[in-house]
Amino acid sequence: MDVRGRESMNRKKRAEELRSHRWYGVSDLRSFGHRSRTKQMGYAAKDYSGKPVIGIINTWSDINPCHTHFRERVEEVKRGVWQSGGFPVEMPAMSLSEPFQKPSTMLYRNFLAMETEELLRSYPVDGAVLMGGCDKTTPALLMGAITMDLPALFVPAGPMLRGNWRGKTLGSGSDVWKYWDEKRAGTIGECEWEEIEDGIARSPGHCMTMGTASTMTATAEVLGMTLPGASSIPAADSGHPRMASMSGRRIVEMVWEDLKPSDILDERAYEDAVTAVMALGGSTNAVIHLIALARRSGVPMDLSRFDEISRCVPVLANIRPGGEYLMEDFYYAGGLRGMLSRLTEMLHLDRVTVGGHVMGETLTGVYNDEVIRTLDDPLKEEGGLAVLRGNLAPDGCVIKHSAADQRLLRHTGPVVIFDGYDALAGRIDDPNLKVDADSVLVLRGAGPIGAPGMPEWGLLPIPRKLLERGVRDMVRISDARMSGTAYGTCVLHVAPESHVGGPLALVRDGDEVELDVPNRRLQLKVDESELSRRRDAWRAPPRPYGRGYGAIFAGHVTQANEGCDFDFLAEGASIPEPEIH
Ligand code: FES
Repeated sequence: MDVRGRESMNRKKRAEELRSHRWYGVSDLRSFGHRSRTKQMGYAAKDYSGKPVIGIINTWSDINPCHTHFRERVEEVKRGVWQSGGFPVEMPAMSLSEPFQKPSTMLYRNFLAMETEELLRSYPVDGAVLMGGCDKTTPALLMGAITMDLPALFVPAGPMLRGNWRGKTLGSGSDVWKYWDEKRAGTIGECEWEEIEDGIARSPGHCMTMGTASTMTATAEVLGMTLPGASSIPAADSGHPRMASMSGRRIVEMVWEDLKPSDILDERAYEDAVTAVMALGGSTNAVIHLIALARRSGVPMDLSRFDEISRCVPVLANIRPGGEYLMEDFYYAGGLRGMLSRLTEMLHLDRVTVGGHVMGETLTGVYNDEVIRTLDDPLKEEGGLAVLRGNLAPDGCVIKHSAADQRLLRHTGPVVIFDGYDALAGRIDDPNLKVDADSVLVLRGAGPIGAPGMPEWGLLPIPRKLLERGVRDMVRISDARMSGTAYGTCVLHVAPESHVGGPLALVRDGDEVELDVPNRRLQLKVDESELSRRRDAWRAPPRPYGRGYGAIFAGHVTQANEGCDFDFLAEGASIPEPEIH
């Protein structure tokens, strides 16, 4: 059946029921303005009249290397929208460029979520194509679209091609940390470092390791918010523009079918997303974003669910930083749909997706068992993330134990504490720093409010004097996040954060900390009476930003275990359609 035949068969809506009809279809003074101003842009009535208006939220920017191809891709999305009888309208939105935006893109995730929601609400949009990929853009766009609940479809940026240095494969982030440590240890010099800089990012697209970008675009697909297979296609592959135009065609059908995020995103979708994150050995950041997304959908989700699912799901994707390969290899091996085909017993296969098919109909085969491992021969028996609790993290914290030195997963050692990143940077390489390989490095003041924005500072550097002795991993603890491309024994997202008086604020140099990942414990070995004395003496530090968006952020952001959404965005009365007068 051709597109038009299917469209009329599945139609639930008439043209007069389109949301945009209130702007274009009525006969009054304001609608005259909307029509005449559309004509001012060169469109005839035939171009838009009675057609779904498709808002394309594009996070392209000159400052975002992961989205450089979005300028062309948006034209391919538009081509699909035109072909399917829609009217495409591109709407640029804040880009959240991971390498450049400081102190952290996480400070602005909720900003983009709010911008997405308000763009869709305040303009004559019937359906949305969301173009993102670089870390926080994916959850932000989805959060806004979930709340607005218009038909919406996500177009992932796609991973970049493999990096290369002197014949060695380089992965974004992961190999930066690796070779930076080698440079600090003196095993490579400036010349090698410069060559690595030349070869590590070879094409448009997001990081091609299983960092936050690859994890979150895969999550969008498992949730059912992309076309089948979309998240694994490399940005430079000709399949990527084909996926973009297909997405443009499909969103128009979705408007007529009235297929909305609330029809797709139920509890089963979020459980499947957590399962996939575990099998991918995905980024710890996914925990925060998935809690925020689920809560926007009205689905209860907390840290315990991640740990329960993690214990039952093996890591199958052999991708850096936990494994060996990169996203380009994953795509050739069958991609996400191939990996999901190995997990059918653990998934809900009858869920609807934006493509109009149920999840089970979209799975493919696996073509390389080394890259996508079998259930009998997984990369790790258990999922990649563990949730820990104890008197140091009463509301929980996480560790990517699949990417840690397995010898350190049960470890007790004395604390070396750093108050904020400046203190860390100033002291970590001091030859007189009292530290050895058994020490536990602790960074505080790096949480959602304290930093602010919970930057990816959780991979604390190994002190130079220990690097020179061959030490490459240590236990590190913080209320920060960590790049999904990073690896090491890093306990992250300690909640509540130190800035609001969480127990991390009470730790002192030399205190003993016990990490016990098999038993999911993180314990400060200081007795309660002493902790109580320290608590009484503790005074809240001043907030980093006294005005502007930073002040709104500090006043309303929730802690990591609650998804770091704004309290006023996560819940509250629904907002009416705008009045048009
Ligand atoms: Fe954009 Fe890594 S820098 S995804």
